[in-house]
Amino acid sequence: MVRFLLDGEVIEIDAADGQATALDLIRYKLRRTGTKEGCAEGDCGACTVLLGELDGDRVAWRAVNSCILFTPMLDGKALMTVESLSRDGALHPIQQEMVARHGSQCGFCTPGFIMSLYGRSIGALGTERTPVADVIGGNLCRCTGYGQILASGEAVSPTVPDDGEIVTALKALRRDGSGKNWFAPKTADELAALLLDHPNARIVAGATDVGLWVTKQHRDLGTMVFISDVSNLKQIIETDDGLTIGAVVRYSEARDALTRLHPDLGELVRRIAGLQVRNAGTIGGNIANGSPIGDMPPALIALGATVTLRRGDARRTVPLESYFIRYGVQDRQPGEFVESLHIPRPAHDTLIRITKLSKRFDSDISAVCGAFLLRIENDIVTEARIAFGGMAGVPARAPLAEAALIGQPWNEATAEAAAEALSRDYAPLNDLRGSAAYRVTVAANLMRRLWIEQSGEAVSVLELADG
Ligand code: FAD
Ligand code: FES
Ligand code: FES
Repeated sequence: MVRFLLDGEVIEIDAADGQATALDLIRYKLRRTGTKEGCAEGDCGACTVLLGELDGDRVAWRAVNSCILFTPMLDGKALMTVESLSRDGALHPIQQEMVARHGSQCGFCTPGFIMSLYGRSIGALGTERTPVADVIGGNLCRCTGYGQILASGEAVSPTVPDDGEIVTALKALRRDGSGKNWFAPKTADELAALLLDHPNARIVAGATDVGLWVTKQHRDLGTMVFISDVSNLKQIIETDDGLTIGAVVRYSEARDALTRLHPDLGELVRRIAGLQVRNAGTIGGNIANGSPIGDMPPALIALGATVTLRRGDARRTVPLESYFIRYGVQDRQPGEFVESLHIPRPAHDTLIRITKLSKRFDSDISAVCGAFLLRIENDIVTEARIAFGGMAGVPARAPLAEAALIGQPWNEATAEAAAEALSRDYAPLNDLRGSAAYRVTVAANLMRRLWIEQSGEAVSVLELADG
């Protein structure tokens, strides 16, 4: 049984299929057809809804894409659709602004924009101190043009919602933790025991990858284990040694702590997908999926991160780079799960650069993502860790380029030798995101850029351009 709140009413879905989407439930069962289906893959934001969950004595709201959210992920939560905003028939101020500023033409995208902007007005996850343009980066409009929509978002004053009744109702909701073909454990011990009994069950964290296997590939996922409510996997622990991130911490939740570790990490998170995907997708999922173009692995490998895996009561911690064995194969046994990640705090004199290259700036998957960590003492490179995504079947280090740097004086000749070595480190593929030649060239150029930026030569290049 799945139980959730919709505008104060408890909705119970008996025998919910684990891989039925929340969007289908909202449109076809609840008949709330204001929520639209555009792409069915998390890209357009037409299906945006707000999900609220208990956080002590408050409700933490976040905008998510309901097209790639599975129905059991609503269990124990409060749901708001666009209809929730004007239940008395009067338009909400954000809707009034969109009307007054002509922020809608065909209107198909409008409910999604309204929900994203409404989320910003109530301080939902990932919207604090965030420009409107970033908040709506995951919403696509084909006809209006974004100027009016941005202006509508700017015009609305923040409000603090009165969530008192929702808090009480959420506390009273009974949760079964299992259904037809799924389980939703609450603790890591329960999860570990469940996976020993069902070693081949499909683990689902934020479903921003797995959701597409259903909506686009029509796969039957068999038994599913939803882990996003496992309390011990939600922790973020910051110490002098570094940052430990539980496997189900979402991008938006980790962003501030990652920024404190290094600003490039925070900026990388900002460039991952749109807000709705960052509000659901986890860093644990980005690692576990083993994708060669996932953005976090190259950055975390360069920073020397380790991953802790757990099977039953047994835990092991491995360097992140060794978790990726070859394309499609990771160092994870049946019944084992990613429990946490640890990123060591870089020494203050470490040089770090992380660069994501994609065809669009916002909401796009990388063609190449490069991460460099260099330690330079008395003008000699004493440590070099370089990792790239998009250059091989797995995210991988660049041993030849690292060897070209370590022990050498930090100067242009060394940087050039490392740039040349990078083209021998990898044999990338041609695909739609970039040709092999582009990838090799750009990787070497990122090395050159690091030297230019760090040595201050960028200034002279600009002066040359001016002169
Ligand atoms: P899920 O989809 O829940 O799971 C992914 C895989 O990991 C599954 O195989 C699952 O079984 C496994 N898994 C999850 N957690 C665990 C665990 N704790 N232990 C063991 N196995 C586990 N990715 C990028 O890197 N950069 C982007 O810019 C980007 N843009 C995107 C844009 C869109 C529109 C969408 C839909 C996705 C995008 N992604 C991007 C991909 C995706 O958002 C990320 O890979 C995300 O981190 C996946 O996390 P999740 O929690 O949603 O994983
Ligand atoms: Fe496009 Fe959901 S329908 S993001
Ligand atoms: Fe038509 Fe935005 S108003 S897609």
